[in-house]
Amino acid sequence: MSLENSLSPLAAPSLPVIEMHTGEWDRRTFWEFADAAKAATEALAAQKMKALEGMPVEALRQFCTQYRFFTIEYISDLALLLAKLPFGGLRSLLSQILSEELGEGDASRAHPEIYDRFLASIEVPRERLDQGLAANRKILGALTAQLWRRDPAFGVGLRGMGGECLCQTYLSVMFEHLRLHPYMQENTDRIDWEFWTIHTGEEDIVHGELTRAAIDRYIQEEPGALPDLAQGYERSITAWNQFWQNIFDACLPKQRAVS
Ligand SMILES: [Fe+2]
Repeated sequence: MSLENSLSPLAAPSLPVIEMHTGEWDRRTFWEFADAAKAATEALAAQKMKALEGMPVEALRQFCTQYRFFTIEYISDLALLLAKLPFGGLRSLLSQILSEELGEGDASRAHPEIYDRFLASIEVPRERLDQGLAANRKILGALTAQLWRRDPAFGVGLRGMGGECLCQTYLSVMFEHLRLHPYMQENTDRIDWEFWTIHTGEEDIVHGELTRAAIDRYIQEEPGALPDLAQGYERSITAWNQFWQNIFDACLPKQRAVS
């Protein structure tokens, strides 16, 4: 198993190539693979997100708008995964995460609503909220379709693990660069930062750790799930990186052209 992270100094870096482990999976090889994939994703995100700091404000608004589609689809995919999982610690933990995503009974506290308040505060017009990239709609639709078709273990890798652990990685790096943008600095007092404080702080790190521990117990209870779990995770990383790449391509067409 190895990860080749093809980072380059260009504005639109190529995606990391993830080579899957070819022999028998066990807990050790699985977590080695997962950790290496996460490290490669972190390095890629760090390199990509630097471009946010100098992006024209309109492109930045478009960039931020595209992320909302991930948060929306993540919720329904997580609900679908919950319906498929057996009773146990992982199912209970993911149900708690789903409830938090939906505002724990208060619709105004649902994370997509909180994110939309951030978008409104950076002056994204309401009528532009539904303008998702066709390529990304396709990616998200394909993930949902696979979740329907495949075993729950694949779904755990795809959404239970990928969404919660990788998502936080990208968001933290995104926030780090986003807040350095001159527009964000000048308007910081009137921008609604709540989504970012929820998703880049202690609470989200704890979520990631709890998810990892629950998945580890799930693997110990169902070792036969490992190949599907690893496949789902690999699929998630590829989809997630492509999702962001499409957003960069749409928001930074000129820099893409010189690469
Ligand atoms: Fe969330």
